[in-house]
This record gives sequence, structure tokens and C-alpha cells, in this order.
Amino acid sequence: MARPTPRARASEPGRRGSSCPTPPVPPPTSARTLLKVCLRDRGQAVVFGYEKHLVRPTCRAENRRMSDDQNTANEQQRRRAARNACKRFLSGERLLGIRERLTALAALDGLDVEPYRYGSDGPVRQLEELAAALLGTEDAVFFPTGTMAQQVALRYGAELTGRPAVALHPLSHLKRHAYTQLTGLRGLWPTTEQRLPTAEELGALGEPFGTLAIELPLRDPGYLLPSWEELVELTAVAHAAGARVHFDGARLWNTTTHLGSQLDEISALADNVYVSFYKDLRGISGAALAGDAALTAYARAWRHRYGGTLYQQWPATLAALAGLDTVLPKLPDFARHAATLAPALAALPGARIHPAVPPTHEFQLWLPHPAKALNVAHLALVEQERTWFISHWTDAAPGLAMAEVSLTGPALEWTADEVTQVGLRFLELAAASAH
Ligand SMILES: Cc1ncc(COP(=O)(O)O)c(C=O)c1O
Repeated sequence: MARPTPRARASEPGRRGSSCPTPPVPPPTSARTLLKVCLRDRGQAVVFGYEKHLVRPTCRAENRRMSDDQNTANEQQRRRAARNACKRFLSGERLLGIRERLTALAALDGLDVEPYRYGSDGPVRQLEELAAALLGTEDAVFFPTGTMAQQVALRYGAELTGRPAVALHPLSHLKRHAYTQLTGLRGLWPTTEQRLPTAEELGALGEPFGTLAIELPLRDPGYLLPSWEELVELTAVAHAAGARVHFDGARLWNTTTHLGSQLDEISALADNVYVSFYKDLRGISGAALAGDAALTAYARAWRHRYGGTLYQQWPATLAALAGLDTVLPKLPDFARHAATLAPALAALPGARIHPAVPPTHEFQLWLPHPAKALNVAHLALVEQERTWFISHWTDAAPGLAMAEVSLTGPALEWTADEVTQVGLRFLELAAASAH
């Protein structure tokens, strides 16, 4: 099968202006209707599409809880509608609707074949081969989630070395989501500081470990990256101690600019590398675990045991292939442009960005207002100007909030001056909503 590539949109049935009429939206399926009737009989209502199950209130407290739920649901709907109506985005992008997503996939070449099953051929295998080629590994295995892929990687490290401990950062995704508990492994922290561990700290751990797991970039404390030299030293210490090195490279795709190395050079420092297809690459879901043939054979066996060898997974793999073709080449531009916009954000009154010089297009912005005031202000800004600035503020301390910033394709259209102008209007709205 020829590798699916984006091509010019064919005339799509149902698109405005095409010769076929738009197909009507299908009525609710019978399963939905049955569920509605069933819930109503039990005194419950269900609003499909808004993921909200509302229990009929029986007392005043429940009444209040219901109205809180409704407020949250209303606010979510308001935010979603405002986001969809936006003309411009600074941080993040417009979310594609399901139909849009399917239309984009349907425009790929090479789809006139029967779907392949269990991923030994077709787009799943193509994706595995492409991931292995990009990462310079013998092979790669597609997984439905990175969570599953990384459990397999850690288990392999423990079995091969006979050491059940994993050296990792306590703020890493691996630790926070308790992978080690699932695999029966034990976590050791070379550092608890909000930064990657140093080679000295790893050397001083004083306990044998089977795998050193490094999240690149380390998201929680601000999408941090070591320098190339620091990464080389760190991985060398692990190897010298007889351990394997695993990269949690959910966002490894965007590390090349800062590290000054190609993906294959970076992944050559590790024994196994996991990459995600739906974060930087804007896919639907899915991940790859890459390494030598022994690792990937083990990964295929355990993927099956964990229930990860799906009957058909072409939607996720086609979207991933499209992401590798169209988004991956743009990531260095995102990082370069982010370097011109980040100082404008840092210069807003009372603002701070972290890290001070972001190594990728993602970083944290801190502002001296309560998160609630900033979230209210953001929604007001979006509704007034149809411009999405920076959302999802969370309180870090009283009167101080943080949001993660992701400057991707839409941010390329912004100048630093525009960031300042919109940022100042956002802060005015936040100050007003705090009073
Ligand atoms: C750093 C990191 N590693 C792993 C994962 C897990 O990926 P998945 O959602 O595919 O299980 C995530 C998901 O957010 C992540 O941010």
C-alpha cells in the first residue's frame, strides 16, 4: 500500500458548493434512546454531547449541587462556543471537530484498501517503520497509549537487569501516574528539585536501578530540558552503573532545536524511547516504543498481553502519519518564533515566564492575579475579541496563578507587539474581574 500522504481535497460529498447535498445529521441511535428512557425511569436525565448526568434533586443541598454542576456545564459550553468562534489563537489551536478530522483523513492517498487487522501491515506497520527510521532504532512498536508503552519499557529494563528500581523524577508523568505501582517496580529520585537530575546526583543515588527514565522535556516544572552535554553525562552515568536508559519522549519531537542534535542522535543516548503521536504532532492518539529488535519483540508480546494490539487502529495511525508529514517539519519554526514572543509575555506587568529562556515552544506564564479572575477575564476577552490568548489558569499561591503556554502554528502569525497589546487588555479585564 502506498504511504498515505495529504493531497488536494477532492470534491467531498456533503461539502457546501459540491454537487451532492449535505447529508442530514443522523437521529440519535436506538442505543442512546434506550439509555435515555432507562435513566429517566430511574429518575435521572442525560444530556448527550455534554457528558453530564444530572441526578434529580431530592433535597436543597442536592439542588445546590445540581445548579453548581449546571453552572460548570454552562461555563464549559460557553468556553467551547467562544473557542470555536475564535479567529486567532496565541496559545494552542482551534480543536478540530470529528467531521473535520474525518474529512482530513479521507483526503489522504492510498485509502482504497481493506483495513488491515492487528497492525502487522498497512498504516500501523508504515508508522512503526517511519518512527524507527526517524529515531534511528532497529524497530518501533505502535501502542494505543504511551502509558501502556512505558510500562512495557520499564518492565523490560527490570527483567533484563534483574533490578526492580527505576530512577526517575518525582514530577515526571511516569511517577505522577504511578506506572511503577502497576508494574511492581520501585521509584528512586536522584533529585526532588524542580529540574532534571544531574549526573552527580544520579551517581550518588547509592542504590542499584534497572532503568534511568528521563522525561524530555520535563513538563510539570515548566517543560525543562538539559543541555546536550548534561544529557550525555547523565545517560553515561546510568550506563556505567549497568542500567538501561529510557526516554519518555512524549514531546521528544520538539527537543532538536535546543539540543542541537537530530532525533536519531538524541535517541542514540537511550536504550528505549517512547514518542507520542497526538501531542506535538496533533494526531488522534497513540505512541511508539522504539529500540533494538529484542526490545521490540518483547514489546509486541506485552502489548498483546496488556490488550494493546487492537483489531483495527488505522484512524490513529493515519493521523500520526499525517502529523509526521505536515507538523514535524514545522516544530523548529515554532521554537524559533516562541523565542521572539516569550519576552513580550515576560514583560507584561507583574509577569514571569518559566523557564526564563524556554528551550521549546512550551513554557509557563505566571501572573499576579487569582486564577479565577484570569479565567473569567480570558473568557471575556475571547468573547469580545474572538482572540484566544492564554487559558486554563490555576492558582499557585494566593493571588498568583500559572498557565502553560504552547506557541504552535497559529502563534506564528503574531508579532511581539500584538502579544503585548492583547496581554495588556487581558490584564485590565483580570484586574476588573478581581474586584
Ligand atoms: C510526558 C508524558 N508521558 C506520557 C504520557 C502518556 O501518554 P498517553 O496519553 O498516550 O498514555 C503523557 C500524556 O500526557 C505525557 O505528558
